Amino acid sequence: MRSDNNTQIKLDPQRIPQHVAIIMDGNGRWAKKRLLPRIAGHKQGMDNVRTITRAASALGIKVLTLYAFSTENWKRPKDEVSYIMSLPVTFFNNFVPELIEQNVRVMIMGDLTALPESTRSACARAIADTAHCDGMILNFALNYGGRDELRRAVQQLAQEAEDGKRQARDIKDTDIDAALMTAPLGKLADPDLLIRTSGEERISNFLLWQIAYSELVFTDRLWPDFSADDLRSACADYASRDRRFGAVK
Ligand code: IPE
Ligand code: IPE
Ligand code: MG
Repeated sequence: MRSDNNTQIKLDPQRIPQHVAIIMDGNGRWAKKRLLPRIAGHKQGMDNVRTITRAASALGIKVLTLYAFSTENWKRPKDEVSYIMSLPVTFFNNFVPELIEQNVRVMIMGDLTALPESTRSACARAIADTAHCDGMILNFALNYGGRDELRRAVQQLAQEAEDGKRQARDIKDTDIDAALMTAPLGKLADPDLLIRTSGEERISNFLLWQIAYSELVFTDRLWPDFSADDLRSACADYASRDRRFGAVK
């Protein structure tokens, strides 16, 4: 990622990514560096969601998808998992009024049935309370896995074929799009820009179908430290890319 003086970066409004997805990684290492328990990193990470949401909305980003908990994160210690599950409750309790003020609409994708009841109801309330907002969409991936999403889509399409509602040979890419958890995002379902913080350069089961042509930005910054300027910098990097989608210009 560019390391120039970020506040100086001028962004061409024509080249702002419409859908930005972020793998918010590095909370544990942020805490470890400070000799704090891992959950302190998650708390700081949650506070940073507020900062980055505000920054993304101000930049004119239309959809901000944040990977908050993967289908594999259940493998973590029980205490850590339950702390992470309490964060949506705190986050939405504190920030929904601010989100409404910024005209931000909350959406959530993932298998919510497996979440604690308090987490689920906090999510449902935030979705309902911001349903009228038509500015940026703040889309959380919670208990989300790309393979889980694809398996569900395959099951749905196979069931429809079995029921005689469609012919297997007629299944199109757009039918798959419509069966995925990003379907409510319509034309904005595929991220233009995918950012991963913390220095890891892998996808970790995020949006496997939708990132086919996303621009990728990896930064060493740990998620709690990822700033509005870092977001601008990633957007500037994005703006400098030549997206060819397999064609010749
Ligand atoms: C990302 O930070 C948050 C979640 C996966 C829930 P981590 O908790 O993965 O932080 P590191 O990778 O251990 O530093
Ligand atoms: C990916 O981070 C999941 C989220 C950020 C929610 P992980 O920390 O779980 O990924 P791995 O284990 O390093 O691949
Ligand atoms: Mg991690």
